[in-house]
Amino acid sequence: MCGIIGYIGKKKAIPVIIDGLETLEYRGYDSSGIAYYNKKKELKIIKEQGKIAILKNILNLNEESNLGIGHTRWATHGQPSRINSHPHNVGNITLVHNGIIENYEELKKHPLVKNYKFISKTDTEVACAIINSLYNENQDILKSLEESQKLLMGSYALAIIVNNDFEHLYVMKKDSPLIIGVGNKENYVASDVPAILKYTKKYILLNEGDIGIVSNKNIKVYNQKKLVKKKILEFEWDLEAGMKNGYEHFMLKEIFEQPKVIEQTIKEYINDYDFINLPDLTKYNRIDIVACGSAYHTGLIAKYWFEEYCNMEINVDIASEYRYKKNFLDKKCLLIVISQSGETADTLASLRLVNDKKIDTLAIVNVVGSSIAREAKNVLYIKAGPEISVATTKAYSAQALLLSILAFKTSVDKKIINIKEKEQIINDYHNLSLYIQDILSNTKICESIAKKIFKANDIFFLGRKIDYAIVMEGSLKLKEISYIHSEAYPSGELKHGSIALINKNTPVISVITDENIALKTISNIKETKARGAYSIVLSSLNMDNNKECYDYLIKIEHIHSLVEPILPIIYLQLISYYIAKLNKRDIDKPKNLAKSVTVE
Ligand code: G6P
Repeated sequence: MCGIIGYIGKKKAIPVIIDGLETLEYRGYDSSGIAYYNKKKELKIIKEQGKIAILKNILNLNEESNLGIGHTRWATHGQPSRINSHPHNVGNITLVHNGIIENYEELKKHPLVKNYKFISKTDTEVACAIINSLYNENQDILKSLEESQKLLMGSYALAIIVNNDFEHLYVMKKDSPLIIGVGNKENYVASDVPAILKYTKKYILLNEGDIGIVSNKNIKVYNQKKLVKKKILEFEWDLEAGMKNGYEHFMLKEIFEQPKVIEQTIKEYINDYDFINLPDLTKYNRIDIVACGSAYHTGLIAKYWFEEYCNMEINVDIASEYRYKKNFLDKKCLLIVISQSGETADTLASLRLVNDKKIDTLAIVNVVGSSIAREAKNVLYIKAGPEISVATTKAYSAQALLLSILAFKTSVDKKIINIKEKEQIINDYHNLSLYIQDILSNTKICESIAKKIFKANDIFFLGRKIDYAIVMEGSLKLKEISYIHSEAYPSGELKHGSIALINKNTPVISVITDENIALKTISNIKETKARGAYSIVLSSLNMDNNKECYDYLIKIEHIHSLVEPILPIIYLQLISYYIAKLNKRDIDKPKNLAKSVTVE
């Protein structure tokens, strides 16, 4: 993970780098650092353990400097400490790194660095030492970087400054995201576009193996020793998208953006009563869906939709498992990978594995031009805009929505859903953002539930079939931002052991939307109530005859089951948010996490 940034131009580099790092902090926040040339052309490296605010405090933001690089770290090799922080410097080379040099232990014994004494525990220092030795031999940085590519295994996005070279920044990319921001007589380097959006919307995407030489007026990119022509792209979101706009946290802002995101995503794929921009999936007889974290949960929801409405065989797997297990794919199979960032290492690896077998792949991604988006045979974008809070909300809903539309279209194509039903469902899609707005207009319900349960040690979630998939996300949301232990169970399964953990007042949150199995879940909730649980039920069904199964009922709009499952999560996101707030957690940057997980 980690976020990197670089600047060269007429502005003061330090504030530009700090601004960028603050935007990139979602990628990691164990430590941060900056390297720059000052007015006297001296190289300064300043780094600190902890969040960027700590680094900012010890920097002179007014200091003159026109070239620098910065880094915010999510520790992989070597604990968070100043010594392990980036930038790293060895001899003539100073660099920041996002990724993992997998063969770093082996490289430490390489003849090129045999006399060098490593001071940190990081893989990055090894890369720095190797590049420095090559540079000392060649006295040519491009040649040295090209040679280093043959030695460095794993993933890297590097931004480099070279001693006594006051005119250039150097970059190199493999399997970790990196863009070059294009300005007017100034240029930028960053892990993602929002980091430089305050200054420019124009950017160049770097490909695998690219090496860039960036001056204030020029950008040259080489790949395999050849100069490559790069297209200048324009980012479609405004700076506003990366700001809190009066909300206390990005998470809350992003929860409130959901009606708009839902509308935008629907507009992209449904025009009036017709589908647009969507592939035909009827030719496949099996779909594997692979993702991590919340994206995996949307895959689980999709499994129910595709099975129920398209009569298709669906396998959903966590990417870090999928990539190492035996798969039985043939030409009639499709792999769907889901990823907000489009950079998640395990999801990308699973995609590559299947691409190599020449089997069709389709990516559902938020970040335009990300590795997964570029490498999949086909890509569909959700229209969520930049998501800053580490805990995903709007991207999750948009992913679920897009998968639902895809299952819906496939069902229509297969003539399982008829024209009349089609129109009714489309009406539900068109009204979906209004239903969500309605939920958001009364957050008091969620706040009062949060007040009741925020001190709990354990919170359980129950649901059956699709409702189980929904509560898995509710449980993850809760634990990641509130640090309260939580588990989601298929409601029939709790009694096989875990019910032993239900005590007086243990909160149990259940979702019931499926009429056919509602009574089963209600019985299971009663089993927990009999052991003292405090029961909160979210349901679209009439619960008048089952008042004894809940202490608190949240009524959900009853709409078509291809659309309805997107509603309960909005409540669950809000409940988690308020619980975390009451527990005074760092909501946008929960401990130990990072938004973009580019390591295995
Ligand atoms: C991290 C994030 C999660 C996210 C998961 C997958 O763990 O904290 O919110 O769901 O990665 O990320 P992706 O970008 O592939 O959706």
